Amino acid sequence: MEERIQTLLQEINAYNATDKAGVEAYRLRYTSKKGVVGELFEELKQMPVEQKKTAGKILNELKQAAEAKLSALQEQVETSTASANALDLTLPPVPNTTGNLHPLTLTRYRIIEIFERLGFNVADGPEIEDDWHNFSALNFPENHPAREMQDTFFIEKKGVAGAPQDVLLRTHTSNVQIRLMKSQKPPIRAIMPGRVYRNEAISARAHCFFHQVEGLYVDKNVSFADLKQTIFHFAKEMYGKDVKLRLRPSFFPFTEPSAEIDVTCLICKGEGCVVCKRSGWVEIAGAGMVHPNVLRNCGIDPEEYTGFAFGMGIERVTQLRYRVNDLRLYSENDIRFLKQFNTSGIA
Ligand code: DAH
Repeated sequence: MEERIQTLLQEINAYNATDKAGVEAYRLRYTSKKGVVGELFEELKQMPVEQKKTAGKILNELKQAAEAKLSALQEQVETSTASANALDLTLPPVPNTTGNLHPLTLTRYRIIEIFERLGFNVADGPEIEDDWHNFSALNFPENHPAREMQDTFFIEKKGVAGAPQDVLLRTHTSNVQIRLMKSQKPPIRAIMPGRVYRNEAISARAHCFFHQVEGLYVDKNVSFADLKQTIFHFAKEMYGKDVKLRLRPSFFPFTEPSAEIDVTCLICKGEGCVVCKRSGWVEIAGAGMVHPNVLRNCGIDPEEYTGFAFGMGIERVTQLRYRVNDLRLYSENDIRFLKQFNTSGIA
């Protein structure tokens, strides 16, 4: 037996394991209950008493040596896998893919920045609105086509279940003009960005929801010249110094006189292209002097105060800025479209 123990001791000392499977194989062979050391203990039981003492001593030494070796192997394998998993600080970093702002948000921020420097506040109003704020207070006659079902999403109809007036999704941001003039005294100078809704079939050029920025300036002696210079300043800041402005007479129930405002097409520089329908001009806003009836509806005396107002489509401004030709892209959330507006410098 002593000889076998010596050979086993040598085997154990020479054993090497590089992974967990190797350690397990060692355990099964040497230190587990059915392993070779265990077998020797079984044999020891059968030995004559006089031999038992010396054999038992060296067998115990073998057992201790075998167990010590098992712990050493376990530790060795664990530290080597830990160092294999450790960070290699010499590797180049994995770039962070950061999110980015939506192009409409970028444009809205830029619009706000330009008007804030002219002393305009930013105001907000509800998207679910009543007929009075969306239409009546803005001097829309009772039978105006914009009140018809084809344009407006109605939520409640007047008279149905006792509703005192129609409740609807606002069709423009002009409702916020009314809310501001009802709640504040002139001077009022604010822009009002927000989402608006119209019952339109969705296509590249039309959508059932889009975004506008309303502008309003009410004070003593506000004139049409102020309106023109304000929009001209905005256009130069937004599109560059060379931009030209054109005002065409128009009609809105809530302004008198009213105008549609065009800028020279930035895409073809006035040469004529599909965006400007070969005219060299693109419309950016509707505007005008606030109608005396509107001021009166809000408790402001039109003999004392005048004001100008304008409404701009944020999608249109964004289209000219980034040359996006399909309105649907703004709400489809296609990451390939959205990540082109990453301004962090990391793609
Ligand atoms: N509310 C108009 C629209 O949605 C835009 C507009 C035109 C707003 C003229 C104004 C304005 O404030 O003066 O088409």
